[in-house]
Amino acid sequence: MLTLAIIKPDAVKNRLTGKILAHLEADGFVVRAARLVKLTVAEAESFYEVHRARPFFRPLVTFMTSGPALALALERDDAVMRLRDVIGATDPAEAKPGTVRKLYAESKERNAIHASDSPENAAREVGFFFAERELRGL
Ligand code: CMP
Repeated sequence: MLTLAIIKPDAVKNRLTGKILAHLEADGFVVRAARLVKLTVAEAESFYEVHRARPFFRPLVTFMTSGPALALALERDDAVMRLRDVIGATDPAEAKPGTVRKLYAESKERNAIHASDSPENAAREVGFFFAERELRGL
C-alpha cells in the first residue's frame, strides 16, 4: 500500500531531509517515487482544497510555496495509518516523543512533514504528484 508524504519547506531548508528519510526507512517504509518540487500557489491551493475555508488556509499556502519540498510516495503495509503514527500530531507540542514532528518540527504550521490522512486521500495525493509510470518500481 502507498501513501504520500511531503517533507515541507521548513525541513528542506533546515537540511533535515536525510534525517527524516532515514527515520521513515528505519520504520519500514520504502521510497517508491520522490521529487523535489516548488509548488505554485495554484498547486498548493488545489492540494489543500479541503482546508480552503479554514483560517490557516492562506498562511498554509504561503508557507508551502515558500521553497522546495520533497514529495514522496512511500510503501509499506498499513502505510497510511503507520505514517501518521510515525510523524506524530500536527502540533509538535502535542506529538509523542520520538515522532518526526516532535524531533524536527518548528510549529503547528511549520511542522516538517505532511502525510495523507486516509486511503482515499492517499490515492488522490499520490496521483497529484506522480504518474503511474513513476510508481512501477524496479
Ligand atoms: P498537513 O498535514 O500538511 O495538513 C494541513 C496543514 O495545515 C497541517 O499539516 C498544518 O501544517 C497546517 N495547519 C496550520 N494551522 C493548523 C490548525 N490550526 N489545524 C490544523 N492544521 C493546521
